[in-house]
Amino acid sequence: MARIIGSMSASHVPAVGNAIARGLQEDPYWKPFFDGFTPAQKWLAEVKPDVAVVFSNDHGLNFFLDKMPIFAIGAAPSYPSADEGWGIPVNDPWPGIPPLSWHIANHVVEEEFDPVICQQMLIDHAVCLPMACFFEDCGRNKGYRPVKIVPVGINTVQFPMPSLKRCFEFGRAIGRAIESYPEDLKVVLIGTGGLSHQLEGERAGHLNKKFDTYCMDCIAGDPSPLLGLSNVDLVEQAGTAGLEFMNWMTMRGALLGEVREVTRTYHIPISNTAAAVQVLEQLPRLAAAAE
Ligand SMILES: [Fe+2]
Repeated sequence: MARIIGSMSASHVPAVGNAIARGLQEDPYWKPFFDGFTPAQKWLAEVKPDVAVVFSNDHGLNFFLDKMPIFAIGAAPSYPSADEGWGIPVNDPWPGIPPLSWHIANHVVEEEFDPVICQQMLIDHAVCLPMACFFEDCGRNKGYRPVKIVPVGINTVQFPMPSLKRCFEFGRAIGRAIESYPEDLKVVLIGTGGLSHQLEGERAGHLNKKFDTYCMDCIAGDPSPLLGLSNVDLVEQAGTAGLEFMNWMTMRGALLGEVREVTRTYHIPISNTAAAVQVLEQLPRLAAAAE
């Protein structure tokens, strides 16, 4: 049976792609950010996942403001990168795993969620950059793709948006789907985006370290206090773009068992964004004990 081994979450900032493309990892501005991924890379080298289910939000490649699904699941054999921002070259595609994608899609629909199923899907910096940072060299070593991916899209962009509670419950259904997949696969969950940031309006530049720390504490421990937050609460605390924390909550929902925090870093600012990295290991458990 497939087994969820843990989760990795990180902010996604287009400027990071530019830093990778220009080889600025040792630059004083960037070094603290990239160093934050080193413990995660060591953990990955130990656990060696086969598949990554990646929770992120589309930035206009697949869905624009005229058509915006609440949830979307990729079911493509390959996911081309189409826009990394800054005019830098796009990354090579990431391979998909359609049988697992369809298993997840069928399972969550049976649990009464209604995602869009995408048999063609593009990926952008929200997927490519965290993957390049976690899986070292994926952003530089062309063609190096150590895992297959299942992208899961969440509307964090335009109202109406799902609540944190809805995201968490959707993640729960995805976690149950993964753990009922018959093939022996090690699956890591990846949540991208956030943490606090706002790019426009009177509060442009808004950051909130206290709230971000609270959110990371809840993700590492008991996420239930976050379930009562409305999206307006989230905007007030984390800024409009901080709504991307929904991706982290969906990811956290898919962790069905007890977790142990492997590493956490938090660095302000990277291009007006509170940049965080957090890795959780799901403690061994029997699939039959899934909630
Ligand atoms: Fe984003």
